[in-house]
Amino acid sequence: MLLVDNVYKAFGDFMAVRGAGLRVDKGELVAVIGPNGAGKTTLFNLICGQLKPDKGRIVFKQEEIGALPPHRICRRGIARSFQIANIFPRLSVFRNVQVSVLSQQRKSTVLFRPAQTIAVKQTREILDDVGLSAKARDVAGSLSHGDQRILEIAIALGNQPELIILDEPTAGMSPEETAGTMALIRRLAEERGLTILFCEHDMDVVFDVASSIMVMRHGETIIQGPPEAVRSNAEVQQAYLGGAA
Ligand SMILES: Nc1ncnc2c1ncn2[C@@H]1O[C@H](COP(=O)(O)OP(=O)(O)OP(=O)(O)O)[C@@H](O)[C@H]1O
Ligand SMILES: [Mg+2]
Repeated sequence: MLLVDNVYKAFGDFMAVRGAGLRVDKGELVAVIGPNGAGKTTLFNLICGQLKPDKGRIVFKQEEIGALPPHRICRRGIARSFQIANIFPRLSVFRNVQVSVLSQQRKSTVLFRPAQTIAVKQTREILDDVGLSAKARDVAGSLSHGDQRILEIAIALGNQPELIILDEPTAGMSPEETAGTMALIRRLAEERGLTILFCEHDMDVVFDVASSIMVMRHGETIIQGPPEAVRSNAEVQQAYLGGAA
């Protein structure tokens, strides 16, 4: 479904991503791990079009997307969440999701009409699915941090993506919230047939949930493979036990 092939990205003379590679097959739950500053968020920004690669190929469903703007990539079926929650804090929870459903349907102009009924069914389904129905009328900014991160996933679902990219979906969550969020992510993959790419610092979470793990260090891909292969890889052990980013 997604292939990142030998991609480079420099900020000035600092090379944040240098020759990274990644493969995501349909229905997989792929984790990207690596120390702080390894280039994970930069890689996600390259895939989603927020940044353009200096070199290398990014192919989604057989099409090169490296040069496309973010909204075109989104329309092709990739939705994402950000490392820092990215919601409309003064709109209701319901409205946050409805806006994203409408934007995917190219009906955003109806927001200027009293069109409360549009996309209501889909929005309700999504809120049900992620467990936020009871808070649908709440102002998004009043939600707990954990619920705001869940809302972000709901917003991404509103885009009806085939591939969803989550940048540290459990960052700042309590252990209970983390477990709930990962269970949700796993369920979304199973029930909706979604393909999920995420990065995460909690190794227990990663090894528990991911079907494939890609390890980054200094902007490079060290290895990608099933959890067992990654766990036993000497270079990975050294990167983590050695600690240096
Ligand atoms: N816009 C930018 N301008 C300059 N340097 C940047 C920019 N964005 C990222 N960097 C640098 O690129 C490197 C990779 O950053 P990135 O955010 O991709 O790391 P990360 O793996 O997501 O780290 P973390 O786990 O802390 O989120 C870091 O050294 C960072 O300081
Ligand atoms: Mg990051």
